[in-house]
Amino acid sequence: MRVFITGATGVLGRRLVKLFCARGDSVVGLVRSPVGEQTVIASGGEPHRAELFDAGALARGAEGCDVIIHAATSIPVKTRPRARDWEMNDRIRREGTEALATCAAKMGAKLYLQQSVIWVARPADGSFFDEDAPAQPDQLSRSAFDGENITHEAGEKYGFNVSVLRCGWFYSADAAHTRFFAESLRARRLPVIGHGDAVWAILHLDDAASAFVTAAAAPCSGIWHLVDDQAVSVREFLDYFAERLAAPRPWQVPAWLARLVAGSYAVDFFTTSSRTSNARVRRDFGWTPRFPTFREGIDQIVANWTVEGVV
Ligand SMILES: NC(=O)c1ccc[n+]([C@@H]2O[C@H](COP(=O)([O-])OP(=O)(O)OC[C@H]3O[C@@H](n4cnc5c(N)ncnc54)[C@H](OP(=O)(O)O)[C@@H]3O)[C@@H](O)[C@H]2O)c1
Repeated sequence: MRVFITGATGVLGRRLVKLFCARGDSVVGLVRSPVGEQTVIASGGEPHRAELFDAGALARGAEGCDVIIHAATSIPVKTRPRARDWEMNDRIRREGTEALATCAAKMGAKLYLQQSVIWVARPADGSFFDEDAPAQPDQLSRSAFDGENITHEAGEKYGFNVSVLRCGWFYSADAAHTRFFAESLRARRLPVIGHGDAVWAILHLDDAASAFVTAAAAPCSGIWHLVDDQAVSVREFLDYFAERLAAPRPWQVPAWLARLVAGSYAVDFFTTSSRTSNARVRRDFGWTPRFPTFREGIDQIVANWTVEGVV
């Protein structure tokens, strides 16, 4: 199998390049800089330097590829992102997807894998939802939903399979948000907002990558939710993370106060529940997470950081 990956230098993409190469597949990774080229080479792939929004330039790199994966994102890592901080991410999800779908059509690819997010179908009342639930994207997930539709339409028009993998909240030792959480917990700068009883549907990045590779090896069309086996409350996640870091137990702030200080994005993230399941991806692909709950995932992260001397 020959695979073309956007976002090949990112937290998900780096894992994908390594896993595909370890299987004996050949991988071309889209990059934007000499550093990106070195990252892809170090992971075992071939870098292709091009602009994501230029379908012709993408196609020159994707020559001969039967699987195309869109794993590029630009999620703001600021504590208080403004609307304009999301603009590039929206462009990547809409215009980037269009360019890549055009490239997949030119290549005669068998499969296009789109990274999306479970939040496109999350009910506002926090109730359970699965892949058949009606989409109800909010302002931040609207572009992810648009990206899904662009790929579905292109797949139907040009005759390639489209697998949309909607991911829960990623965490890993190298993810910017996970590192930010750890640093903030240790500095007592990360409180629980509200009661802490909202639940997060999460996924260790190693498991996200293994699910993408499994799906790539079994081309078919559909939507799958990628989360671990057990949603976790905000309070439980942060308490356990703090305990493993030997940091103080996080304090609590009322949502109204946090909204003034941290803005509505942070408050919504901490106070809105996401309840979904990995039943369909387990059933259709036989995929199972190596880190079934946050406990195994956090233990691995802290163990890695201990070896690296980060904690
Ligand atoms: N489901 C989730 O919870 C979820 C989803 C996505 C991200 N995140 C989190 O958000 C944080 C930041 O994520 P991130 O996506 O910004 O970082 P990232 O995963 O480290 O990298 C994103 C990838 O997209 C590429 N990219 C960014 N802008 C691009 C553009 N304009 N054209 C082409 N490629 C572009 C980057 O390339 P360069 O190396 O050239 O910049 C990189 O390869 C991470 O902590 C991650 O875990 C969470």
